Amino acid sequence: MNSDSSNANVAQSELVESALASRSAKVSDFSLFFSKFVAKGRQISSAVPSSPSMVGTVLQSVDFSRPATIVELGAGTGPITEQIVEHLRPHHRFVAVENDRDFCGILRRRFPEVTLLESDATRLADPLAKLGIHKVDYVLSGLPTPSLPPRAMLRLMHWLRDSLTPNGLFVQITVIPVLYLSFYRRLFDQVDYRSVWLNVPPGGVYQCSQPRKSYRRRR
Ligand SMILES: C[S@@+](CC[C@H](N)C(=O)[O-])C[C@H]1O[C@@H](n2cnc3c(N)ncnc32)[C@H](O)[C@@H]1O
Repeated sequence: MNSDSSNANVAQSELVESALASRSAKVSDFSLFFSKFVAKGRQISSAVPSSPSMVGTVLQSVDFSRPATIVELGAGTGPITEQIVEHLRPHHRFVAVENDRDFCGILRRRFPEVTLLESDATRLADPLAKLGIHKVDYVLSGLPTPSLPPRAMLRLMHWLRDSLTPNGLFVQITVIPVLYLSFYRRLFDQVDYRSVWLNVPPGGVYQCSQPRKSYRRRR
């Protein structure tokens, strides 16, 4: 390891510790998130965690009054996780998924009650089956879905086709308003889009259902 990358790792460890100082250490979350964005670019896709407006719009898609299995993909530092946890009732099953080790450390310490899979969100069938989960009612995604490599995208879509219940929803955040509407319409029969202007940068939420049996990545 050269001295630049070792200094970067030390700096990230310090940011992780300071983000853990409280359950909602927003300023530290921003610094850590930004440093991850600089280091990993499109794998993180946003320079800052989701705003309360973005989180609120995601949660509007979920009917918490009914029993449901909810899976969150790409939980990051946990702004959406935190609000899901606030709404959970005994008739819910909830699993969060994140593949970044530092973010997973934060999520585990902030939400010890949550089942967290530190794994690739496009390889979920087996880990979820081990938890006894075969069908999912809500998939809430912070993943950089349009930037996924083609094979990862295929795996994600196969899993969604096999696992989403007939009325199930795939809810996807974006920080590039409306641009990917046609992309999601190629993947799902039903797609609605809601703008979220009070986010940095402004973004939105795609609410998708009925994954297509076959899809074309591009026109
Ligand atoms: C735009 S951030 C969203 C974070 C958080 N949900 C929020 O709203 O602030 C994308 C997150 O997806 C995670 N991620 C990217 N690719 C992933 C993958 N293949 N499997 C699991 N997590 C992934 C990144 O590490 C990052 O935490």
